[in-house]
Amino acid sequence: MPVILVTGATGTIGSKVLDILTVRGQRVRAVTRDPEKISTRSGVEVVRADFDEPASLRQAVATVRTMFLLTAPASPTTRHDLAIIDAARSAGVRKVVKLSAIGTGEKIGADVVGASHLAAERAVRDSGMAWTILRPSSFASNALRWVEAADQGRPVLDLTGPGRHGVVDPHDVAAVAVEALLSSTHIGRIYTLTGPELLTMTEQVTCLSRAVGRRIDTVAVSPERAADEMLAAGMDRSAVDMIITGAAWVRAGHNAILTDDVAAVLGRPPTSFQSWVMRHRRALGAS
Ligand SMILES: NC(=O)c1ccc[n+]([C@@H]2O[C@H](COP(=O)([O-])OP(=O)(O)OC[C@H]3O[C@@H](n4cnc5c(N)ncnc54)[C@H](OP(=O)(O)O)[C@@H]3O)[C@@H](O)[C@H]2O)c1
Repeated sequence: MPVILVTGATGTIGSKVLDILTVRGQRVRAVTRDPEKISTRSGVEVVRADFDEPASLRQAVATVRTMFLLTAPASPTTRHDLAIIDAARSAGVRKVVKLSAIGTGEKIGADVVGASHLAAERAVRDSGMAWTILRPSSFASNALRWVEAADQGRPVLDLTGPGRHGVVDPHDVAAVAVEALLSSTHIGRIYTLTGPELLTMTEQVTCLSRAVGRRIDTVAVSPERAADEMLAAGMDRSAVDMIITGAAWVRAGHNAILTDDVAAVLGRPPTSFQSWVMRHRRALGAS
């Protein structure tokens, strides 16, 4: 059985892609910079590779035919995407499923939303490999970070105000990725993956507070102050710019989009934010 490469295998989406592929009896090669993070299990080969180390990427893609491509948000994403796309093409990988983001390529003023994903999407489409691109909306799991902020006595910074998101369950994103990896039906398709309802960030926090029985405060923050805080926390300038542009796009109401793509691929409705919260009550510190 050919091996499927999963990048970002220790992260929110990649770990779920790994789990679903394993349950479905697939042979998987999981990429991480720290193999200790992934438990040994049947059907999973763990490889140490780093997007900044081309030799490690060449080893990771050797004999692979299908690849799930996910690069981390707070890093030089385009360079990372291009490095592994190049290695994959040279190694004869035939299909790539690329995790991108909703709004990629849209314009707000002079700025392009998801600029780094856009460059990577183009590279995937021009690679000669079969491809599927997934553009999820805001992940329900971002709420875990809000609870972390509340635990530290900080309010959650709200950059998007009245802008609504079709908040999507990461498990649904991973399940769609697996279908795209395993079936030829999704080749050449760009899917915009959303949940079933549109919510502002404040509405999400209210739902979260009620479900876990604790107070979580939000505070409206200007793009300038948010950018300063992210830079002070050590984030890359280009990653910060991408987040600020994306937030402006959401704030202006352009992310208020619901699609049928999750349902069309999975044959069931997408999961609501409320259901995601109830499934994760313990991790969210429910009292
Ligand atoms: N959060 C949202 O609402 C949202 C919405 C739409 C799209 N997205 C997109 O989703 C992606 C992030 O997905 P996620 O939340 O699942 O990520 P995540 O949980 O932050 O995990 C990042 C993964 O990237 C790996 N990684 C980081 N740097 C690496 C490097 N130099 N070399 C190799 N691997 C590296 C990490 O592995 P190790 O640390 O184990 O090496 C980890 O598995 C981004 O592209 C983002 O734009 C996010």
